[in-house]
Amino acid sequence: MKPIYRMVFLNTLTALSILLSAALSSPTSKTDSRIPCQAGDISSCPAHTIIVSNGASSSKADFTSIQAAILSLPNDNSSATIFIRAGRYTEQLNITRPGPVTLLGETTNPLDASKNQVTVYWSAANNGTYLDNAFTSVLTVAPTQNASLTGAGPTGWPVPADTPFGNSDFRVYNIDFRNVFSEYSAGPSLAVSVSYANAGFYYSGFYSYQDTVYIGKLGNGYFYDSIIAGQTDFLYGFGTAWFQFCALQLRSCGGGITAWKGTNTTYVNKFGAYIVDSTINAANASIADEIKGKCALGRPWNELDISIFARTYEDASIESSGFTDWLDSGVQNYVPEVTLQAEFETYGPGWNETGRLEAGFDTLLNKSAWEAYDEPAKVFQFGYGNGSFGNIKWIDWAPWN
Ligand SMILES: *[C@@H]1O[C@H](CO)[C@@H](O)[C@H](O)[C@H]1NC(C)=O
Ligand SMILES: *[C@@H]1O[C@H](CO)[C@@H](O)[C@H](O)[C@H]1NC(C)=O
Ligand SMILES: *[C@@H]1O[C@H](CO)[C@@H](O)[C@H](O)[C@H]1NC(C)=O
Ligand SMILES: *[C@@H]1O[C@H](CO)[C@@H](O)[C@H](O)[C@H]1NC(C)=O
Ligand SMILES: *[C@@H]1O[C@H](CO)[C@@H](O)[C@H](O)[C@H]1NC(C)=O
Ligand SMILES: *[C@@H]1O[C@H](CO)[C@@H](O)[C@H](O)[C@H]1NC(C)=O
Ligand SMILES: *[C@@H]1O[C@H](CO)[C@@H](O)[C@H](O)[C@H]1NC(C)=O
Ligand SMILES: *[C@@H]1O[C@H](CO)[C@@H](O)[C@H](O)[C@H]1NC(C)=O
Ligand SMILES: *[C@@H]1O[C@H](CO)[C@@H](O)[C@H](O)[C@H]1NC(C)=O
Repeated sequence: MKPIYRMVFLNTLTALSILLSAALSSPTSKTDSRIPCQAGDISSCPAHTIIVSNGASSSKADFTSIQAAILSLPNDNSSATIFIRAGRYTEQLNITRPGPVTLLGETTNPLDASKNQVTVYWSAANNGTYLDNAFTSVLTVAPTQNASLTGAGPTGWPVPADTPFGNSDFRVYNIDFRNVFSEYSAGPSLAVSVSYANAGFYYSGFYSYQDTVYIGKLGNGYFYDSIIAGQTDFLYGFGTAWFQFCALQLRSCGGGITAWKGTNTTYVNKFGAYIVDSTINAANASIADEIKGKCALGRPWNELDISIFARTYEDASIESSGFTDWLDSGVQNYVPEVTLQAEFETYGPGWNETGRLEAGFDTLLNKSAWEAYDEPAKVFQFGYGNGSFGNIKWIDWAPWN
């Protein structure tokens, strides 16, 4: 379900930056139009596009697996585009190189994630069988395996200080990532994992039951008009994630939608999850009856959690308290005035002001408090470790082209 009049919700600044970046983008950039290429007109794809197919047209393709195409790219700063023909691919994908990479999924409905024709499958859950949750992911964007790991404690897995920042500009259009380990929460089961990297996902889909989207250390993830389906803590991590016009689908309840961990840095940081102009709905009508009033917006993985839902529709699945607490070995993670689990102009049957105020795990932001977070440039930081904001060049502001 999509908000019908969603463009009117754009604040003036976002609208201005979209117009500006659309006007300034050079006529030869890939934003010329990705659409004819994705419809299969190879001559309109960017020069040197690599083609992947495991179906009928595989004899005309460069590779039959997506990871083989990724591994063929030089480990440098050059740009690459990979066009993936419609089909089901069963493989784990890892992007480690620094140079821009764009994955285009074949589709005749380039503005509708529910009609994607390319799906990447993997089946893994960390039920104690893996060293770390990150090993289960369908797609990983990180410079090294250690950088991608979740680890434990306030700062996660120790990453060697000389670890370089990974991919500076990774983009995906119209691809679904499904971790199909089970039809219920059976341990962390990631669809996507982003650390030490900037990654943008447009009209894509992310499906699993637990920990579906993981944005790890120094990870920046931007999700636009995409579908994210899960049950438990299905947006989690300690980097920064922005969900714009996304459809969050509850396949059941567990933990919360968000489970974020903040880091106490010497510089100001806004590591957190920002869900903006989006929708939250039960995945289907039969599950809707079962979970009515039972699902939490989120729970704090530690006391420095920042999770904000803004101008987002909440169906009746959301419990009256909105957010909830997380008891970690008997200790409450939620700390008033420190933890920022918040809502700004959320609406729908899941919104209950009395319930929010009574429970006390939810900050109801006014406009001026929301202004500190109200556009991607205010929250995405460079990976230099000095807290510079405004890291947004990798975001496609006109993804409908
Ligand atoms: C990529 O560019 C960055 C920044 O200019 C540079 O530090 C790095 O060495 C380059 N990496 C490679 C593999 O060429
Ligand atoms: C844990 O995962 C392994 C393999 O991934 C699987 O064989 C096993 O059945 C799982 N155990 C449970 C309790 O789900
Ligand atoms: C991709 O990364 C995962 C998680 O780190 C790892 O388990 C897997 O072996 C990697 N696969 C490839 C093809 O590099
Ligand atoms: C990854 O982390 C482990 C545990 O901290 C360490 O033993 C290993 O050397 C690290 N690997 C690299 C390549 O740094
Ligand atoms: C509804 O969604 C749940 C959770 O994903 C699933 O188990 C169930 O099969 C779905 N039912 C229908 C009728 O699609
Ligand atoms: C963050 O670290 C500083 C310096 O160590 C400390 O004074 C402060 O209490 C910490 N804040 C939180 C919320 O942990
Ligand atoms: C809203 O929350 C209050 C307090 O928990 C509760 O009494 C009331 O029934 C809730 N309203 C709805 C419509 O769920
Ligand atoms: C908005 O909220 C902030 C933080 O709670 C508060 O300091 C400020 O007075 C509020 N502004 C208005 C106009 O209510
Ligand atoms: C952070 O580091 C980058 C790269 O060295 C630099 O361009 C930027 O100005 C620095 N920002 C601050 C606030 O120091």
